[in-house]
Parts: sequence; C-alpha cells; structure tokens
Amino acid sequence: MTAPVSAASRDRVIIFDTTMRDGEQSPGASMSHDEKLELAKILEEMGVDVIEAGFPIASNGDFEAVRAISQIVTESTVCGLARAAAVDIDRCAEAIKPAKRGRIHTFISTSPQHRDYILKLSQDEVLEAVVQSVTRARNLCGDVEWSAQDATRTEPDFLYRCVEAAINAGARTINLPDTVGYSFPEEYAAMFRNVILNVPNADKAIFSAHCHNDLGLAVANSIAAVQGGARQVECAINGIGERAGNAALEEIVMALKVRGETLGFDSQVDPIHITRASRYVSAITGFPVQFNKAIVGKNAFAHESGIHQDGMLKNAETYEIMRPEDVGQGATNLVMGKHSGRHAFREKLKALGYDLGQNALNEAFVRFKELADKKKHVFDDDLIALVDDALARGSERIRVVHLRVVAGTEGQSAELTLAVDDVEKSAQASGDGPVDAVFNAIHEIVPHKAALRLFQVHAVTEGTDAQAQVSVRLEEDGRIATGAAADTDTLTASAKAYVNALNNLFSRKEKGKPDTAIASGF
Ligand code: KIV
Ligand code: ZN
Repeated sequence: MTAPVSAASRDRVIIFDTTMRDGEQSPGASMSHDEKLELAKILEEMGVDVIEAGFPIASNGDFEAVRAISQIVTESTVCGLARAAAVDIDRCAEAIKPAKRGRIHTFISTSPQHRDYILKLSQDEVLEAVVQSVTRARNLCGDVEWSAQDATRTEPDFLYRCVEAAINAGARTINLPDTVGYSFPEEYAAMFRNVILNVPNADKAIFSAHCHNDLGLAVANSIAAVQGGARQVECAINGIGERAGNAALEEIVMALKVRGETLGFDSQVDPIHITRASRYVSAITGFPVQFNKAIVGKNAFAHESGIHQDGMLKNAETYEIMRPEDVGQGATNLVMGKHSGRHAFREKLKALGYDLGQNALNEAFVRFKELADKKKHVFDDDLIALVDDALARGSERIRVVHLRVVAGTEGQSAELTLAVDDVEKSAQASGDGPVDAVFNAIHEIVPHKAALRLFQVHAVTEGTDAQAQVSVRLEEDGRIATGAAADTDTLTASAKAYVNALNNLFSRKEKGKPDTAIASGF
C-alpha cells in the first residue's frame, strides 16, 4: 500500500475540457453559439484549466464560437483544434487570437491503421508533417499541444520519434489518445512510462491523456495515465464525445478528490459546480444523464434498500464516499415557496453555483414567483431548470406568446401565437396528439424544412405538478440544432423547446454551414 499523500503536497493535474469539441462530435449533439458561451463561463467558474472550444476550420460557427469564447474567458486557457494542415492551423490561430491564454491543439494520426487507410502516408511523411505543423503552430502561438491520434495502436519506436520531434518543434503538451477506446489501464499507464523513459526531451513537455469509452474504461485509463506520468487529462462533462464518449470530467475530478491521498494528485476544479454543469450540458444537447451515472446521475446519492437507509441514518460514511453537496446537489432539497424573498432566492442560487448579474437575477426572480404561484414546493431542481431555461432562451428571434391546446378523445388542436422578429403571428392546427398539433401550428407560422430527430420529456421533480423539461432536436441539410425548455405545462414546454431549436437552427445558418466531411474526418 502506498503512503498517503497530504492535501498540501499533492501535485496538480491539468483538467482539459473538450465538451464543446469532442463532445459536440457525439452524433446528434450540437450546441448553439450562445449556449457555448454560457458553458465556457461555467467551465471557467469551475476552475477548468483548458477549454477546448471547437475546431475552427470545421465551420464558421465553430470559428465564431472559439473566437467569442477567447474574448470572454480570462482565467482558463482557450484552445482550438487543428489538423496538421497550414489552413487549419492559421484559422485556429486567428480564432484564439483574442484569448488572454490561447492554445493551438494540432494533431495527426500515427498508427499504421490510420497512416495506411486514412492518410496514405509513410512513417517519414507523418514525421515530416508533425515537424511542419508544430513549427507553424508555434510561430503563431506560444502554447502548442500536439496529439498523436490513435497513439495506443502506434508502433512504440515510431511514437517515440514523433513525440521527440514534436517537442523539438516547440510543443509544450503531448497528448497520447486512446482514440478507439481499446486500451486496458495497465497498458495505457505503461505507454506513458515508456514514452517518458525513451524520449530524450520528454522532460520539456507535459503529457496528456485523452480516452474514449468504447470498453467503458475511459476514466480508469485516464487515472492510470496519471499514475504513468500524465499531468493533463482531457475529458468532457457527462462523458459525451465520439461514439461511446470521452472520460467524464466529473468522474475524473471526484476520483482525484476522493482518492487524492492514494493518488497523490488533485485538480483545481471546484466540484460544487459539477451538478449544474452536468444539467446544463444535458439540457442543451438533449442527451439525458443515465439514472445510475456516477456523480451526476439521479440515483448517484439515492439509497433505496432498508439496510443502506439504516446505515445512512446512523452515519452517512457507511455508504457514502462523498457528499451530494460536495458536487452541488443541495443538502436540503425542499427550498422555496411563494413567500420566499429576493435575498433568500439569490443566496439559494449562489449555493447552487449561479452568480447572476442584477438584471438576470431580477428576471429569474419574476419567473420564480410565477412558478411558485403554480407549484406549492419549489425544489432545487426546479430552480436550476428555471435559470437554465432563461439562459437557453438568450436573445431569440422567435418567441412563444400564447398557446391554447384542446386535447382528449374528440381530437387535438392547438391555437398558437408566436412573435417573429417582434411581429405577432397566429395559427391554428390539428395533429395526431396535442404535441403534434402544437408543432404543426409552429410549422404554419414559421415554414421550415427541418426534420424532428428527437422529442424528449422528463419531469424535473416528483409529483404531478412537476415541471416538464423538454428537449427537441431538429436537422436540416446536415445541420443539427437542439432546443430545451422547462414549464409546469408540458405542451408549453414543448412549444418553447421546439421554438428554441428553430432559433438555434436559424442562427447556425447565419453563422455558416458546418463542413461535416471535416467534422467527422477523424
Ligand atoms: O480521440 C482523439 O484522438 C482525438 C484527437 C483529435 C485528440 O479526439
Ligand atoms: Zn477524441
């Protein structure tokens, strides 16, 4: 057994968040410009060291998002992804230019599978591309990360040559991804140990882990990498990412917190914001969090069996290795009612991780009072849904003004008024069910070709007066946009979520069509 390491002497692992880049590559996940900005603010507040904000060459939207995030984030490093091509690197440098701390993350595949079938390049040609790309990036930015895509299936000797060349060319961070999620923890740790041992200039760089979850080992592999010498971990909120996803940020952060004594490492992320970040990412992507998901699942701190409940009542340490409030799940869940004042409301939001400006706070308070009129008990989850809903709405071109739905055995119809660029327009429509009728009415007022790819409802809290949280995903010409809304009325929430998705779709169109060939090209 290794000796315990005191909190003060633990080394720090750099937390690199890729929710907006690898996470957004999850099939069906997409975030609007404003949502990305909001998420960047949450990540910065959490203390995330590096925010990978996008892949600037992939689309104008990605470029604009990386640039806007570079303008507002001051504490975290803002990073953009670039292939080993001059055009990618230059575009990335342009996007991160406003950042106080900017990073270019350039990558090329090094494994024989990728060299032969995707790149059609020899080892020497890949090596040459490594030197050229890192040199170019380094001339444009002082902070360059280089990734050996599919490192875990790369011949070790060739990997050592590439890493040495990248460091010589000026890369400060070397990322060795398990791109296909194939490694076992011991193998992945050994790869880091061997690279650090065999690459003569390894001491001039920080090594980074980037794990995919195809075998459910992404977090275990990332922790093993730290034990093998990695000092940066790349991860995403809720573990979203290509295919089975990336290592989940919340799991990495809590593994470092709970087992820091054994590992000897910690991160500077404040876990109090974890629940909020998780819910926000789930709402804007429309990806639900599985009930038994570690740290952020609905059941992560729920004790059902009699034996467990008995133990918990006697002492929480019997079955809990961390406290729900450590990760921002309110200790007392029953919170506010219609008599609660503005001060208590602000304090409660602070405890939930929201520090709103005066205008946003006033608006949220008005909405809270409306909600408290409809609902006897307003729970933490209701408040989170309410504030996130307001943030998701942002500056929308289309807004729901009025909705009346008739439903029942005699048929369903909807009467709807929307404000489109501040001009009110109304329509009536019927449908196969009330939701269909509402969506048909939206179609009448705002004709569009987008197909509905996801419609999902979940209750924010228990009880029949619970708010409904609705997610809608639309797709038009390869462009995907997600919308979310919460309301005590499920049909109003559905209308607002659909309209939110349409607003996001239209703003994506204005910002440029994503080049899906590039976005999925690795
Ligand atoms: O999984 C991977 O290899 C990547 C790289 C682009 C870092 O996402
Ligand atoms: Zn990846």
